[in-house]
Amino acid sequence: MGVLWKLEPATAAKHRLYQRYLDAWWPILLQTSQGNGYTRPRVTLLDAFAGPGRYEDNEPGSPVFILDRLLHHHAVDRMHLSPQRVHLVFIEKDRARHEHLLAELDSQFGPLKDLPVRVEVRRGDAGRDSLPVLTELGAWGHPILGIFDSWGSVNVPLEVMRRIARNRSSEVITTFGPNWFSRREELNADILDSVFGGRGFWTPAADELRSDERWRIWLNTFRDALRRAGFGYQLQFKLVPRTGQPLYLVFGTGSPAGLKAMKDAMWKVDDRDGESFRDPRTRGAEADGQLNFFQMDELCDPELLELVAQRLSTGAATVETVGDWLLTETARWLPKHALKAARQMRLDGQITVQSAGKLTTKSTISL
Ligand SMILES: C[S@@+](CC[C@H](N)C(=O)[O-])C[C@H]1O[C@@H](n2cnc3c(N)ncnc32)[C@H](O)[C@@H]1O
Repeated sequence: MGVLWKLEPATAAKHRLYQRYLDAWWPILLQTSQGNGYTRPRVTLLDAFAGPGRYEDNEPGSPVFILDRLLHHHAVDRMHLSPQRVHLVFIEKDRARHEHLLAELDSQFGPLKDLPVRVEVRRGDAGRDSLPVLTELGAWGHPILGIFDSWGSVNVPLEVMRRIARNRSSEVITTFGPNWFSRREELNADILDSVFGGRGFWTPAADELRSDERWRIWLNTFRDALRRAGFGYQLQFKLVPRTGQPLYLVFGTGSPAGLKAMKDAMWKVDDRDGESFRDPRTRGAEADGQLNFFQMDELCDPELLELVAQRLSTGAATVETVGDWLLTETARWLPKHALKAARQMRLDGQITVQSAGKLTTKSTISL
């Protein structure tokens, strides 16, 4: 592959998701009314596999659209941007891509030192250099969002995730390319030990022989690793574009609000390109395809119904409890979807409502 490459549909869909998420993330963290310029928290975005900043057909790469959307955010005037306070760190290993990225940022934004935020573009290795650069920039103790967007191997030690997980209000987004799950014979055991925190954690996934199950098991394995690293909440999903190869994402956050913001971003992603965010917990819904997000107003997506049935198969629960489970355990469903699913499942005769009266979030339902 050359310095630039073609933008794949799944990457374009992932970019739309990042854009929606960051549009919400920046003001949540920066638009604080507390403190003055000195005591307001510092916020650091680390894009550890930054790329060259551009795609072959001229679409912007992640560093370019991240910076552009921050500088042109509709709430930018209330964000108190300053180079002391807002740090964007880009790491790229490949020399030519690193140079391309520097030139690209300069041509788009002018000299980086004149920007209202600090932009660091480092040539380095995501696994080796992420922690030292965060230390050097004084990021610890303040919110950090780490984006680990590698293609093939996620060769970032779990220690990096652990440090970020234990840092205040910090999150990570990790992506896996489509080949990751099928290249069993190429897996380097020592690297996987460091990524997953020990051999016992990943060998069951490597031993999986059913090729259509591998992605589910690896994704779950990585999700478990993020949980062990200290992220209280983790989301995992397969991003399926209308055409081309899928991508896989695992998101770790310490707060239900972060979880909800990521799911809201999924629902806001423009649906016209037909991408979907699939849940590793379901199989049937995948085969049937999904309703698009607009059709959801009328009917419940089969994936939602399947998930609620899965939850109820472990025992009766209130609609509210099912809603909490949807938020923390499923890829894109929100608490509000529980009542909607319960209504349809009652109509379809799939569930029994145990409490008398109207079906509400307080009602107990069972299969
Ligand atoms: C999937 S691309 C990143 C795309 C970019 N984030 C975007 O969305 O536009 C992965 C990039 O990571 C770089 N890379 C590969 N291994 C790396 C490593 N260990 N540390 C940092 N960068 C690496 C590759 O050269 C490539 O440019």
